[in-house]
Amino acid sequence: MMLAIRNLSIAFPGRDGPVHVVDDVSIEVGRGESLGIVGESGSGKSMLSLATIGLLPGGARTSGEILLEGKNILGLSERELCSLRGRRIGMIFQEPMTALNPAMTAGRQIAEGLRLHRGTGRAEARAEALRLLDRVRIPDPARRIDSYPHEMSGGQRQRVGIAIALALKPDLLIADEPTTALDVTVQKEILDILDELVADLGLSLILISHDLGVIARSTDRTLVMCRGRAVEEGPTEAVLRRPAAQYTRDLIAALPRRARAGLGGNHAAGGAR
Ligand SMILES: Nc1ncnc2c1ncn2[C@@H]1O[C@H](COP(=O)(O)OP(=O)(O)O)[C@@H](O)[C@H]1O
Ligand SMILES: [Mg+2]
Repeated sequence: MMLAIRNLSIAFPGRDGPVHVVDDVSIEVGRGESLGIVGESGSGKSMLSLATIGLLPGGARTSGEILLEGKNILGLSERELCSLRGRRIGMIFQEPMTALNPAMTAGRQIAEGLRLHRGTGRAEARAEALRLLDRVRIPDPARRIDSYPHEMSGGQRQRVGIAIALALKPDLLIADEPTTALDVTVQKEILDILDELVADLGLSLILISHDLGVIARSTDRTLVMCRGRAVEEGPTEAVLRRPAAQYTRDLIAALPRRARAGLGGNHAAGGAR
């Protein structure tokens, strides 16, 4: 199993005792498999993904296990976690502008990991950065490689974010609301690229979104979260067509009618909008 999370709980100290932001959640993601995590804002999706790359905010208390190919990463030292990030697990964030370094060209940011982790030479790292920019289908990569983030559109910046996440050839990609900040056409292009990468590179993908439409088109299995808890989990099609939990039915009913039709299944009773 690429990733197995067993009974993960994450809590922060609160005035009246610990506040559980993730409460006894278990998931499994096989090699080449994609898992969607969906739920309203504040349901603990980002905390779950940050725990998986060892980047929880200070003060967080965890229990349970996060097994990356059988090895528990909870309790690893910062040094050990550092070598996992990028190399084993690549992460893509919601807002590429904040994830990117504004003072560095796209090419240098992509090449940096190769130079630091692999000791790749400057010219070779640049050639690889160019190849990756092409892979994420940036228009005119030979020019974009020397562009700064502020010179690019949101969609181009997110492509650079994906190129950075892929540079060290991780086995698992975690994308936390990767298209939420983008308009609909660009969103589709980014999801197409992610789908293609999962298929071509055999990547495992955790795709986090509050948008069921995004989850429906790009994932094999879906976990629905509500207030830190797993509400239901199963093959995406089954979860969306025949949701078992009232919470999932409410999420579906809250979608605009046309989006709801796109999920398939019989959701006609959800009320027109
Ligand atoms: N540093 C922190 N300390 C305490 N609670 C936090 C911290 N960061 C986030 N939270 C809380 O954790 C909960 C889950 O947040 P998050 O995982 O970001 O939700 P989601 O990504 O599903 O929108 C929220 O209630 C949020 O207020
Ligand atoms: Mg979040």
